[in-house]
Amino acid sequence: MLTKIEIRRHRHWLAGAILLISLGSLTGCDRDKPVAVTKAAPGPIPETPQRPGDPQAGYDVLVNRAVVTCGLPYDAYVAATEAETFDPASDYVLAGRRGRNAELPYALTAFTAESGVELVTSNCLGCHAAPLNGELVIGLGNEFLDFTADPVMAVEGAGAYVDTDAEAAEWQRWADRIGAIAPWSMTDTIGANPAQAITLALMAHRDPETLAWSDEPLLPPPSVEVLPASVPPWWNLGKKHAMFYNAEGRGDHVGYMMLASTTCTDSVAEAREIDAWFKDVRAYLATLEAPVYPYPVDAELAAEGERLFNRECSDCHGRYGERERYPNELVALDEVGTDPAMAEQAYRHTERFARWFNTSFYGRNAEAQPGLGYVAPPLDGVWATAPYLHNGAVPTLAALLDTRERPTYWRFESASPAYDQAALGWRHERLGQGREQFASLDEQKWVYDTSRRGYGNQGHDYGDLLDDQERRALLEYLKTL
Ligand code: HEC
Ligand code: HEC
Repeated sequence: MLTKIEIRRHRHWLAGAILLISLGSLTGCDRDKPVAVTKAAPGPIPETPQRPGDPQAGYDVLVNRAVVTCGLPYDAYVAATEAETFDPASDYVLAGRRGRNAELPYALTAFTAESGVELVTSNCLGCHAAPLNGELVIGLGNEFLDFTADPVMAVEGAGAYVDTDAEAAEWQRWADRIGAIAPWSMTDTIGANPAQAITLALMAHRDPETLAWSDEPLLPPPSVEVLPASVPPWWNLGKKHAMFYNAEGRGDHVGYMMLASTTCTDSVAEAREIDAWFKDVRAYLATLEAPVYPYPVDAELAAEGERLFNRECSDCHGRYGERERYPNELVALDEVGTDPAMAEQAYRHTERFARWFNTSFYGRNAEAQPGLGYVAPPLDGVWATAPYLHNGAVPTLAALLDTRERPTYWRFESASPAYDQAALGWRHERLGQGREQFASLDEQKWVYDTSRRGYGNQGHDYGDLLDDQERRALLEYLKTL
């Protein structure tokens, strides 16, 4: 479906900055009636029916519709792009892109605002599509995104190319929103995704009932300590009863998915229109399938691994193949032992945002229920989704199965590393110390430092009880999922 071509150069920073206006995750405040937030208990997550939709139409929304309804004037985008002397970047062409969109990098979408000004904005695929063996795979989380630069600089830089008064007004609206959320849209490590913090910061600026924007926050904003998240693959959504690592997203998935585009959705009427498209998006996501492992597999060893998996792992992760089942287990933090910061933050410190969500348009068919644990995810296509755990702290599956193999400090071997068929993950390098060993920020940002809060690589030690041969067999089996 997808073919790779070279597209004319585009500014990475610009794409990055525009990307920030869209996001991905959680969930403020009915000032009159404080609504209690239900906290989810560990255990099986109940199923709730999802609204039907048209997958084909959903794909069209993803590649052609602007769901973030503010952006950079197109003419300024072109001028800024041409003025920059970047190396020509390769991009990927998506089937079915129409009009101007057919010329833009896949993570950007063009549309005409009510003012008549044509704008360029980001779409979901900036985070939720990534190259794999020369093809762009929709639904694979991009684990190489760089959110370390201050987006305000990029926005101001592009502002220099804005021409007419109408363009200036559109640019200003976009710039104001980016400015308001900038502190929550930065992390200092490549791959660490700030989508959750950005979403909460946006909620703080919006009335949950009318969705009207307020330049002054209406709720205390979240902490500017932005915790890292890895981007989960979309192809698991069809199996999952709740969205997000902590299973907070209960009920209709569409309400949460739309939150990912609320930078400029300023009225219920506008949200309603986007909601109508998004049931189709959800239907499309549910049709996605995991990519197949493209290298050789030792079938005998994998069969031994399957027996082990069904004994040691399937209570939490389910079974695959003919007798497929997926238990949808929220596993308590004490049990899984992985870095608790993300789940604890939603459970203990940011309840006001779950309340905002539950009283808002977005929560009318859905309910944010933070839980003190993490979901044991489906492992379909897990070979392709390195680095592992909710925070992306563990670079390979081999290291996930043996805690002694997990590096405290590591970095990808390059900006587009080769696949490591022995360890199952992107080739990386262990480092003896943290980021301080490098002089420049450009080098420092590549260092994943698991000693920092939220970045921990501890826990999930279920593989430690096995011997080397058993771990080899399990790895072989994981290739086949
Ligand atoms: C800035 C990056 C970013 C953008 C843009 C983004 N997302 Fe996400 N998305 C994430 C991250 C990170 C998570 C994981 C959050 C969590 O689980 O707490 C996520 C989670 C999700 C999930 C839940 C997956 C699961 O298994 O629980 C869905 C569905 C989703 N996003 C859909 C969308 C859609 C649709 C859009 C566009 C409107 C979008 N996202 C835009 C980063 C992003
Ligand atoms: C008690 C439940 C439980 C058992 C048993 C268990 N896991 Fe997990 N597993 C989890 C949870 C919960 C997570 C998510 C943890 C997080 O993200 O912090 C997870 C995460 C993973 C991941 C990372 C997925 C990703 O995309 O990041 C892999 C791979 C995995 N488990 C494999 C296994 C294997 C193989 C076994 C058997 C040896 C196993 N697990 C046993 C609960 C369990």
